[in-house]
Amino acid sequence: MSIRNLDDLLGEGVSGRRVLVRADLNVPLDKQTGEITDDGRIRAVLPTLSALVQAGAKVVVCSHLGRPKGAPDPQFSLRPVAGRLGELLGAPVHFAEDTVGDSARSTVEGLADGQVALLENLRFNKGETSKDDAERGAFADQLAAFGEAYVDDAFGAVHRKHASVYDVPARLPHVAGRLVLREVEVLSKLTGAPERPYVVVLGGSKVSDKLAVIEALLPTVDRLLIGGGMCFTFLKAQGHEVGTSLLEEEMVETCRNLLERSGGKIMLPVDVVAADAFAPDAAHDTVPADGIPSHRLGLDIGPETVAGFAAALSQAKTIFWNGPMGVFEMAAFANGTRGVAEAITKTDAFSVVGGGDSAAAVRALGLDESSFGHISTGGGASLEYLEGKTLPGIAALEN
Ligand code: 3PG
Ligand code: MG
Repeated sequence: MSIRNLDDLLGEGVSGRRVLVRADLNVPLDKQTGEITDDGRIRAVLPTLSALVQAGAKVVVCSHLGRPKGAPDPQFSLRPVAGRLGELLGAPVHFAEDTVGDSARSTVEGLADGQVALLENLRFNKGETSKDDAERGAFADQLAAFGEAYVDDAFGAVHRKHASVYDVPARLPHVAGRLVLREVEVLSKLTGAPERPYVVVLGGSKVSDKLAVIEALLPTVDRLLIGGGMCFTFLKAQGHEVGTSLLEEEMVETCRNLLERSGGKIMLPVDVVAADAFAPDAAHDTVPADGIPSHRLGLDIGPETVAGFAAALSQAKTIFWNGPMGVFEMAAFANGTRGVAEAITKTDAFSVVGGGDSAAAVRALGLDESSFGHISTGGGASLEYLEGKTLPGIAALEN
């Protein structure tokens, strides 16, 4: 694998050169106020951006935010991100009102050495996510015109075959940024020869989203601990009634099959917190996993499960965790996620937290990020990496 990285580019000298950086600044925004609720992904790209700024490059940053449908949509504007990025960099970020239009062109042309511009949301353009190669290519041409070199630091988006991720690097000299390099280094340790025991904790709502990674991990891991909304489909497969809990009926048979084939590696909850409703103030109790009342739904794993998971984790030398154990956004149902996260921080294992919700949970629960080996910025991307899939954004850098 021959991927050039930021140091190679810096070694060639970038002073006065325009460098196009694909970042993943897809941060969660408060629905009411529009404020950024977790800036982890912005902070994660700072090492790359600062290095380019210090080296005197004209830095043109592009990103997606949310899933707008190929046309401008103010609720998905990157403007608030430009503000926060400027604060963190300690220098103003010039914001372009469009992605490849007049505003973008004049913003890029106006950059002095060591200055940073952020283009408006890539997904305001149909070409970014198009399945049609020519349509993506035409958009990639416009983007590529803004840079003399391309840096991919958008680890969270490397699993997307999108113009800015896949087609632009075919048009410009390209390197991996510091974040992409680190993510790939860490995840390749997990797919290589992880120190054992290797324990994986999976949560999140749907089995169907995690099926491929469960299949890929089962032969490799020593233990697979399952919590979150998807545990109820497994509990059902064990023959338990799950009340009104989240259930993927069509996956029950698949889960039964996985349990049979797992050789006892899969650990499921033995107790859950069952509530009257999906609400922060809903009446709730801890019940055994085989005793969920028919009118109640499970919103978290119970304390006995946390203790069992913690015991398994305490033996581990390598840990990968993806997906919350319960509805951690509601205080009453955050104990499972907190308990598992704390158990991970107490081990001396090399621990990796996979992206999206679990990374946000670590920060939302006020846990010390530095007590984890690595917190990935990619949810889907890190799972697809562990599945052994070819990631379009990484493949594009290899060529
Ligand atoms: C993410 O949040 O998972 C990444 O930013 C990719 O976003 P997407 O799933 O909308 O492509
Ligand atoms: Mg995603």
